[in-house]
Amino acid sequence: MKIAIIGTGHVGLISGVCFAELGNEVICIDNDEDKILNLKKDKLPIFEPGLQELLNKNKSRLTFTTSINEGIQDVGVIFICVGTPPKPSGDADLSTIEKVTNQIAEFMHDYKLVVDKSTVPVRTGRRVKQLMQKKVKQGLSFDVASNPEFLREGAAIYDFMHPDRIVIGVETERAKKILTELYEPIKSPMLITDIESAELIKHASNSFLATKISFINAVAKICEQAGANIEQVAQGIGLDHRIGPEFLQAGIGFGGFCFPKDLRAFKKIAEKLGCEFPLLHEVEEINESMKKLFVTKVEEALWNLNNKTIGILGLSFKPDTEDMRYAPSIDIINMFQKEGAKIRAYDPQAMSIAKRIFKNIEYCKDVYEVADGADCLCIITEWKEFKEMNLEKIKSLLKSPIIMDGRNIFEKEKMLKLGFTYQGIGK
Ligand code: UGA
Repeated sequence: MKIAIIGTGHVGLISGVCFAELGNEVICIDNDEDKILNLKKDKLPIFEPGLQELLNKNKSRLTFTTSINEGIQDVGVIFICVGTPPKPSGDADLSTIEKVTNQIAEFMHDYKLVVDKSTVPVRTGRRVKQLMQKKVKQGLSFDVASNPEFLREGAAIYDFMHPDRIVIGVETERAKKILTELYEPIKSPMLITDIESAELIKHASNSFLATKISFINAVAKICEQAGANIEQVAQGIGLDHRIGPEFLQAGIGFGGFCFPKDLRAFKKIAEKLGCEFPLLHEVEEINESMKKLFVTKVEEALWNLNNKTIGILGLSFKPDTEDMRYAPSIDIINMFQKEGAKIRAYDPQAMSIAKRIFKNIEYCKDVYEVADGADCLCIITEWKEFKEMNLEKIKSLLKSPIIMDGRNIFEKEKMLKLGFTYQGIGK
């Protein structure tokens, strides 16, 4: 099939490259000229394991352009994968969706299936359809569909190719046929729904996962006070197959460009529909409290933070990505700096992005340079590299052997045996 993808962010680019890998001819469209120029030279705008190789492999089936007019003429299916960032109110900003819909309607000369893959509030598809109906030239037909994407950054290619489910929200047989054929090579359960349900599935899924994380974090706080161990508790809960073991990893909370923004947008749309959802507010509150609790614990361990040197391991919001959007590291570093602490940091991927956010921290070349002379070491992101560091060496480099583990990457007993003052979350 010939398909166009509008928006070459994480979702758009990965979908484009993966659709090409499945044998389709894909044209990726973005209004960022630099991005398109670089992509034409096979240079990726994001870090995602395996993406460069897959792009190189499928070069013959991938083209890049900045023009929606040029990009959509030869294709039957158009995926909208543009950003839907949060407005200060928490509502999703849908102005780019509106803009590209207008352009599709203006430039199309034959039937198009317009599929929304961006995360959007329920009823966006309805709006897209109304706008298309108003703007499309007389006699031309089109369909609108919703096909939310569930890929995770860092595992995006695997997730795209092996999703737990493919959700397709359609209202015509024609749209259903096109999308079922397109996804035919992927052997995962397919759920065909109406457009509104498909849109809701995405917001509800992300909100549920965030709720699971905040739930386990709230239990972790109780564990700390009661002398229990959250890892054993989480294991015990997760063995119930109705609950499942995933997303029960206690820590300093979730970040990234999806959970925080989607929670707020879901809360907002629910409110607009007259169905307040205070549970989601609580989920956010617990998430914020985990960062504060972590800073309080460091303060407790060091007494005064003023002029202390705190080593930060991990800046990205999770491992295997350079993404720092809504990363817990940002709030935590800000809180430390407010108390007068000096920050030294290292991240395997996020350093250049971090340098744009924080000018006033010392960036180090590896974990050992961070530890050298620091008053304590804080694990903020669970990169594999940190799990494998030489702890004896770290101990000898630190001014005092204190490790505060915000992601529970180490076993408490082992760390105590090694002579560290060690604190994880909920144990
Ligand atoms: C999330 C969803 O998992 C994807 O299914 C979805 O497609 C994506 O959002 C999106 O809407 O685009 P992502 O933001 O890449 O994916 O990251 P996750 O792996 O879900 O992690 C989110 C945050 O939760 C991270 O900060 C992570 O550290 C935290 N987390 C995750 C925990 O604190 N504990 C856990 O047990 C799991």
